[in-house]
Amino acid sequence: MDQVIDLNNYSPAKWLPLFKNCSLKTTVIKANLKFLKYLFEDGVVIDPKYKKSQDDNDSLSSLSGCEDQELSNHSSEQLEQKEWVFPEFDEQIKKALEEYNGVFPKLNWKAPRDCYEWVPELNCTSIEEIFTLFKSSTLIGDMLERLASAETLEKLDDSDEQYLESVGGLYIILKKWYDLNGSMEFRCFVRENKLVGICQRKTKHFYPFLKEKQQEIVARISEFFTSKLKNKFFDNSYVFDVYIDIPPKQRVLILDFNPWGELTNPIMFSFDDFSSEKSSGEPEFRYIQDQDSLIIEDLSVNRVPQEFTGELKSENLAQFIKMMEKSVN
Ligand SMILES: Nc1ncnc2c1ncn2[C@@H]1O[C@H](COP(=O)(O)OP(=O)(O)OP(=O)(O)O)[C@@H](O)[C@H]1O
Ligand SMILES: [Mg+2]
Repeated sequence: MDQVIDLNNYSPAKWLPLFKNCSLKTTVIKANLKFLKYLFEDGVVIDPKYKKSQDDNDSLSSLSGCEDQELSNHSSEQLEQKEWVFPEFDEQIKKALEEYNGVFPKLNWKAPRDCYEWVPELNCTSIEEIFTLFKSSTLIGDMLERLASAETLEKLDDSDEQYLESVGGLYIILKKWYDLNGSMEFRCFVRENKLVGICQRKTKHFYPFLKEKQQEIVARISEFFTSKLKNKFFDNSYVFDVYIDIPPKQRVLILDFNPWGELTNPIMFSFDDFSSEKSSGEPEFRYIQDQDSLIIEDLSVNRVPQEFTGELKSENLAQFIKMMEKSVN
């Protein structure tokens, strides 16, 4: 089974328009080359304009026009320092933050999921929090390296947006944050337009009720696949993640699409498990069967400084930001 994968198809910027009626509320914001350069820059530097305490004063300072005046008084040394502000799209971020009252951020097809090592929730209420997560995440860093190398970026002028277009673009994806129940998240495998496997997504926990619910879960997801997804995605083989809403609604919602193969963690399967045609028409369902069989994904390789690894955890994003600030100062 050979298929050439265009990773951009796995960004909500691409698939959301096709599956909006069965997805979480999401805002897609086109970022620019300057933002890509900012993300490549070492350290977690956040412009004062985006500091949480500054948010309320923002509208006042920009209305007064004093920013421009201040700029003309800068010394030449200060002028050389790049201002990491993004007036081209920062209002769109603020609008989504206001509308959703808390967002789960992604960049193209990746979330800063490794930051769960330090914070219990990726529920952002400010630009500062979103940018800090993006800049702290190794998963995001790895994704960015598929778009450009540091050397390539250095040669490009900020206005050279064509480069970014040529690699598929850079999109900030802001999903409305929901308090999802991990027991109802599943990863589903589609091979040649056939649903072949379903497994528990959050394998750090044992959910005893899954044993008796398994047939119902398989039936719901199969029905969802046939009616909403089958033959409608860009590729014939892919992996999708779903969430089944709590009763009474029990709606199936798409959380994400992921490429078939090595870039996606098959969690409780291996892709080889699906290499031969099986006679049964039913997808195979796998789940954690007891407390001794938990699977814990290793996300420990990341950008947060060494001294913060281990037992140090933040209770919330505000604490995490302070921790990162200390690390660069
Ligand atoms: N809108 C949301 N609100 C709250 N939590 C969310 C939301 N969307 C996703 N999550 C949580 O974050 C996890 C990771 O999200 P997502 O699958 O979008 O990231 P990803 O980078 O594509 O991950 P992967 O590398 O596994 O494909 C989900 O399993 C879910 O628990
Ligand atoms: Mg994904």
